[in-house]
Amino acid sequence: MTNNPKIQKLQEYRAQSRLGGGESRIKAQHERGKLTARERIDLLLDKGSFREVDAFVVHRTHDFDLDKQKFLGDSVVTGWGTINGRLVYVFSQDFTIFGGSLGEVHSEKICKIMDMALKNGAPVIGLDDSGGARIQEGVVSLGGYAEIFLRNTLASGVIPQISVIMGPCAGGAVYSPALTDFVVMVRNSSYMFITGPEVVKAVTHEEVTFEELGGADVHAEISGVCHLAADNEADALYLIRKLLSYIPQNNMEDPPFVASPDDPLRMEEALDSIIPEDASKPYEIRDVIRYIVDNGTFFEIQEQFAKNIVIGFARLGGHSIGIIANQPAVLAGVLDIKASEKAARFVRFCDAFNIPLVSFVDVPGFLPGVEQEHGGIIRSGAKLLYAYCEATVPKLTVVTRKAYGGAYIVMSSKHIRGDVNFAWPSAEIAVMGPDGAVNIIFRKELTNTADAPKRKEELVNEYCEKFANPYIAAQRGYIDDVIEPHETRPRLINALEMLSNKRDTNPLKKHGCIPL
Ligand code: HXC
Repeated sequence: MTNNPKIQKLQEYRAQSRLGGGESRIKAQHERGKLTARERIDLLLDKGSFREVDAFVVHRTHDFDLDKQKFLGDSVVTGWGTINGRLVYVFSQDFTIFGGSLGEVHSEKICKIMDMALKNGAPVIGLDDSGGARIQEGVVSLGGYAEIFLRNTLASGVIPQISVIMGPCAGGAVYSPALTDFVVMVRNSSYMFITGPEVVKAVTHEEVTFEELGGADVHAEISGVCHLAADNEADALYLIRKLLSYIPQNNMEDPPFVASPDDPLRMEEALDSIIPEDASKPYEIRDVIRYIVDNGTFFEIQEQFAKNIVIGFARLGGHSIGIIANQPAVLAGVLDIKASEKAARFVRFCDAFNIPLVSFVDVPGFLPGVEQEHGGIIRSGAKLLYAYCEATVPKLTVVTRKAYGGAYIVMSSKHIRGDVNFAWPSAEIAVMGPDGAVNIIFRKELTNTADAPKRKEELVNEYCEKFANPYIAAQRGYIDDVIEPHETRPRLINALEMLSNKRDTNPLKKHGCIPL
């Protein structure tokens, strides 16, 4: 308590600002099952670390009598704080003020924070809960969005940018999250779409709910827009804290090293029998990953989307790594349009932020079919190829089983600057699988043979003997070593440490022309 009237006035203003849109709107927000902008920041950041800026900013609009309705701080809370002691910048849209809608000063506040983050090299986290462009401010709101989109783009690859969707995010407003590196959504309370159910019904006569059109599960499973879906707001915010632990503050830093009690020399005998005898049988690639990484901890990204490829973060000997792994348990681990794009984006993120790549390869090739061809599998596959080719971070590869055809090349092969490429004895590195190969090379012989099935079996066995192994590739030096599966962890950690001073560059250019 103070008797100083000037300090009292400050305290009064501050209390007013903290109250956002007022008690009744805060109550309504809670009744929707949602936290307020400030409650979310408190959950996200280290306790007591938040420093707010622009708490006294008000809008400058007179139209529609808006000058009679002013709220200190307007409809977004901005500032900085720490997560596990590391600096982050945050903006949190306040739905209790004009539905969190974005007008001129709302945009200015976000841009100020983004500019500071870029200048000082720390991540920006946006907590989105907004009715979109502030309708009363018209085109000025659109200009405000544009200012943010520009900054999202300029900051891309320089500082990590994360969006958490915690309410509505519709229309052009979706493009700020879409430009960021990771989008987290909350199930049953957040949605993202370009046009809502009403417009969809009017234009295409399709009837859908908000959740069916743009809810967390839809974007996590079908569109791939959402990288992490959470059951509630607290979980969503916790996922951000976890995610950031693998990522450096900016593109000039290395990711944080987290010493682990897990022995770097640990051998894992279970890996020696994890590949089924029958090469057509599936196994769970996540089991392989968990046996190898520190403490079996794997932080998977886009778990529900394009499940035939698995991506995510882990640590090896305390070093943060990005893992890309074909998943033999889904579609035999084939590369299709969605899997290629999912992996390509992840490879580029890791490369931008100095996170070494570890690829586990068991891929029968690219998915055949009219749908895939007409959908542009050529273009999508090229994205993944491009991403791996241009990546200059340490690149480690383990071929566990199949590495066929173009997919062999794409999956971080030696030819495209793989640094250390291992194969397990179960590896089959060839142009294609035995069945397909025999059908093509011996087509004439097989059509003219009386007992074609028997002859085919003989030829397939011959082919397997000759080509379905890692040794032809190893003889050429395309594989650096054939290792026993149980020694994979120590070998990868050793290779990672050997590469810790790796320096590699690409030719100077304005930017490449990735086949988007
Ligand atoms: C101004 C808005 C607003 C907006 C909501 N409000 N959206 N004020 N501009 N865009 C205000 C409401 O008037 C209300 O004020 C308060 O926020 C809460 O809104 P409710 O409708 O009561 O809440 P709810 O029922 O939960 O519905 C939320 C909603 C709905 C679905 C978001 O408000 C809605 O449809 N809003 C309009 C969405 C929209 O069309 N936005 C423009 C999209 S175009 P009071 O005072 O009553 O509390 C766009 C283009 C961006 O965004 C382009 C970028 C390039």
